[in-house]
Amino acid sequence: MEESINFVNGYGKVNPSDDETTSLPAQSPPSNRRKSIAVIVSLLFFVAIVAATIGATVVHHRRSKPSESQSSSVKTTDSIKAVCAVTPHPESCFTEISSIDSDNNAVDPEIIFNLTLRLAVNELSNISSLPKTLISRSNDLRTGSALRDCATLFDDALSQLRQSVESMRVGTPAGEEKVVLTEGKLGDLKTWISAAMTDQETCVDGLEEMGSTAVDEVKMRVQRSNEYMSNSLAILANIETLLDKFGLHLH
Ligand SMILES: *[C@@H]1O[C@H](CO)[C@@H](O)[C@H](O)[C@H]1NC(C)=O
Ligand SMILES: *[C@@H]1O[C@H](CO)[C@@H](O)[C@H](O)[C@H]1NC(C)=O
Repeated sequence: MEESINFVNGYGKVNPSDDETTSLPAQSPPSNRRKSIAVIVSLLFFVAIVAATIGATVVHHRRSKPSESQSSSVKTTDSIKAVCAVTPHPESCFTEISSIDSDNNAVDPEIIFNLTLRLAVNELSNISSLPKTLISRSNDLRTGSALRDCATLFDDALSQLRQSVESMRVGTPAGEEKVVLTEGKLGDLKTWISAAMTDQETCVDGLEEMGSTAVDEVKMRVQRSNEYMSNSLAILANIETLLDKFGLHLH
């Protein structure tokens, strides 16, 4: 939208320079002068069109299409891309969020942040039974004790993330549910998500210290949730800039 307005303004600026060409020294015969004015004007016009086209294509890409025909999936695609761009794993961030956003709700940074947390919660729930499974397979006592620690740490990580999701949940008078980030909540969210990441690291470190054979499998399985959490933290770290881009601000 902004770019198309600038385009109109920029285009308008062709006219003042028009006046300048009109006031060129009146030495050449009138017909030649008129011709050269016409050439200059059409050159300026051409340059303006080219500049506007390049600008619209480069800067705005999909949004320069008429908004009427814009499907909501195009809007969410752009929104998810813009938000994922600040994360350490923009591509997988985009793919994963798109895949769970079946209702095309991902229109703003708060909702997209909520989705990255959902991915992390899903993944952590999925791996919370892993230590138990590994314990049942292992008869090494030292590994067993490290794995029991992991079970506790994974539970803690999961509750940190669930707490994060809950803290943003706000009911509207219309009975709908919204995700609301406030300045005050930002600090808590960073603390909780970082704590969940530390829980996972502590588990892996413990297994490594014990020289556990389970360490590689656990490392592999926590990789994704780790990635989702680091994406979440990156979004939080950039949330004000991101909201600004969407014409929004912290509540
Ligand atoms: C935020 O995420 C939670 C948990 O995944 C979900 O239940 C809730 O509906 C989401 N809220 C919005 C507004 O998307
Ligand atoms: C849970 O983990 C298993 C084993 O890695 C995987 O096959 C499955 O797809 C995962 N489920 C979800 C919902 O991520």
